[in-house]
Amino acid sequence: MQVTIKNNIEVEKMRIAGKLASEVLDYITPYVQPGVTTGELDRLCHDYMVNVQNAIPAPLNYAPPGYTPYPKSICTSVNQQVCHGVPGDKILKSGDIVNLDITVIKNDYHGDTSRMFCVGTPSPQAKRLCDITYECMWIGIAQVRPDATLGDIGHAIQKHAETSGYSVVREFCGHGIGKNFHEDPQVLHYGRPGAGLKLQAGMIFTIEPMINAGKRDIRQMGDGWTIVTKDRSLSAQWEHTVLVTADGYEIMTLSAGTPPPPSFIRIP
Ligand code: MF3
Ligand code: CO
Ligand code: CO
Repeated sequence: MQVTIKNNIEVEKMRIAGKLASEVLDYITPYVQPGVTTGELDRLCHDYMVNVQNAIPAPLNYAPPGYTPYPKSICTSVNQQVCHGVPGDKILKSGDIVNLDITVIKNDYHGDTSRMFCVGTPSPQAKRLCDITYECMWIGIAQVRPDATLGDIGHAIQKHAETSGYSVVREFCGHGIGKNFHEDPQVLHYGRPGAGLKLQAGMIFTIEPMINAGKRDIRQMGDGWTIVTKDRSLSAQWEHTVLVTADGYEIMTLSAGTPPPPSFIRIP
């Protein structure tokens, strides 16, 4: 596949899809409480996307090569689940951490974003993992500008994760996005400065680091989708969809409830 450069019309459509995805996270936030099931969160988000936003939940029946169709409308990854957690009967309890990953399709274009939620009161360790992972995403985003490389992004993320005592999941990565859910390029969350594809204005891709409290190794569960840490350590992830602009970047997945960047990030 080719890395596409989006024109102004496409960028505007991506802003709309991205805002809708982020607004689903705003909508669901008050429901993420002890006692709710991940299946209930999926149902609420599904109904909001379909009935309120007139948008399509991109995960539902999504079937990349080698996968069975994804059975739900969002991903809910709890504690040691790294990504692609399938919503079901699991009841969230105080102290759990959960990633909610939302992808909507609106007017043929995709918006993809995820946030971490602490259910009830988190342990200091869980809170720190979520906070450092958020910083990792933003340190990656802060590299984005024309002539920077994908390796610059990956290296910055890896350095912050590993100096914090954490590990970076290698098997899953960020991705180009547009008319397709997953397009080129692959955006690795580790790497070497100056390596890899050179960024150009008009590229749109996600940055979505998965950071483990323990070792980086993962396993796939029997459902064919849910990814967990092999050592059962906690894992966290945050995701934005980002446009390369003439002087830096623009976040496509913004809404009223988007958390602010860490204080050390300078907005271009
Ligand atoms: N939203 C995920 C991503 O960030 C992909 C989920 S695929 C699904 O790339 F089928 F599990 F939904
Ligand atoms: Co993504
Ligand atoms: Co996603």
